[in-house]
Amino acid sequence: MKGFTLWFTGLSGAGKSTLATLVAAELRERGSNVEIMDGDAVRTNLSKGLGFSKEDRDTNIRRIGYVCNLLSRNGVVAMSAAISPYMAVRDEVRRMTESRFVEVYVECPIDVLTERDVKGLYKKAIAGEIKNFTGISDPYEGPEDPEIRVHSDTQSVAESAQHIIDRLERMNLIPAPAGASYCADDEEAEIVAQLQKKSYL
Ligand code: ADX
Repeated sequence: MKGFTLWFTGLSGAGKSTLATLVAAELRERGSNVEIMDGDAVRTNLSKGLGFSKEDRDTNIRRIGYVCNLLSRNGVVAMSAAISPYMAVRDEVRRMTESRFVEVYVECPIDVLTERDVKGLYKKAIAGEIKNFTGISDPYEGPEDPEIRVHSDTQSVAESAQHIIDRLERMNLIPAPAGASYCADDEEAEIVAQLQKKSYL
């Protein structure tokens, strides 16, 4: 099985982790080994003690990229679901993982996220209670040419997940679903049988 890094990037609350979880479940169904490096989970383990300065964020992303590279070169689909706000360090990870890097930009306008405010952090950031909050008081540099782009304000989670799966199929990184491939094989077998009957083969 081909390993690769599926790198989600987007603002806090845009849906990176939810999408990674959905896509991971589908890929496991298709026989892939998958690991998710979730932003919040990484920060309580691998990156415990790091803050949100540019330097600390870059260190966090380099660590995640390093692990994703180890996993993906050994056949695992390694997913990152951290904000990863800086383009330069994302591109550094891309270069490290060579051709096995697929960037997914989970786009959502900041006003929609502020309105949703699932974790209640935007309200605090706007009130100045959280400093350097991405999108409010800290930069977010979206990718200019990501392999995959989804819009979590206009698409449902299921639609976005399906779009990601479709793109990965088209990039030949994942197999078609078991049901569909059996179907294709059956059809092919049927056509061959008919041709043989007519002595064309
Ligand atoms: S990253 O910038 O280093 O990629 P990461 O994804 O690990 O960020 O962590 C982001 C999560 O930390 C957010 O979803 C949010 O829950 C929390 N958080 C706490 N403080 C901040 C902050 N200043 N900016 C962004 N997210 C923050």
